[in-house]
Amino acid sequence: MTTIQSILDRKGSGQAIAALTAYDYPTARLLDEAGVDILLVGDSLGMTVLGHPDTTQVRLEDILHHTRAVVRARPSALVVADLPIATYDNAKAAVVSAKELVKAGAQAVKLEGGQHCAAQIRAITQSGTPVMAHIGMLPQQIRKEGGYRKKGKTAEERSSLLTDAETVEVNGAFAVVLELIESSVAAEITRRLRIPTIGIGSGTNCDGQILVVHDLIGFFPWFRPKHAQPEADVAGEISKAVSAYIKKIRKAEEL
Ligand code: KIV
Repeated sequence: MTTIQSILDRKGSGQAIAALTAYDYPTARLLDEAGVDILLVGDSLGMTVLGHPDTTQVRLEDILHHTRAVVRARPSALVVADLPIATYDNAKAAVVSAKELVKAGAQAVKLEGGQHCAAQIRAITQSGTPVMAHIGMLPQQIRKEGGYRKKGKTAEERSSLLTDAETVEVNGAFAVVLELIESSVAAEITRRLRIPTIGIGSGTNCDGQILVVHDLIGFFPWFRPKHAQPEADVAGEISKAVSAYIKKIRKAEEL
């Protein structure tokens, strides 16, 4: 059983933390049986499952629904659920939303932001729910940012990211996702923090890695981030199977 303590113990252990998103029962079961450490019910489901252009329309109800499905798989992996946009605007709201996710079966929650979310991270942690932080490129800010862009290229951004990382640790986060951060900056953060860093598009010098499962298995062919190297072509397999099925039933009709 993966616990918060076992994730913390992985820091510096030489065994990278393997994390993937999961949004439903069969995927959660398969990933868990394959040995993944963390299942994230990410708000990326807004795109990969619900067909929105980004994560800004995901509601707490969506994450609750998918968290319940993932938890039904009874995974050994740690289940972390995302707090969607506008559900943690202040410390009080953050605690209430986090409690809902825990009631649905999540063992920890994730939120996006460093220095701006210090109060929320502290309040959720103090209320008894472990928090995974998320800094760097923040998908919930995509409309303000105008696109996905690597962070940490300038001295100012580098210094702000280091402050973000130290802030989330000091306020109680048990791990931090580093998204689209210059690899040298991600490496520096990983060296400085006592909590594990989990990278996505931030180079290999992190304590673990996370990917959207659809990007790993080739299940969302309409958008593939640069950092994702698919290990399978599930979309292609589905097309092949469906074409074969259509051909077979139409041939049967002709007989
Ligand atoms: O929502 C999500 O899937 C995420 C990961 C990409 C880290 O936040």
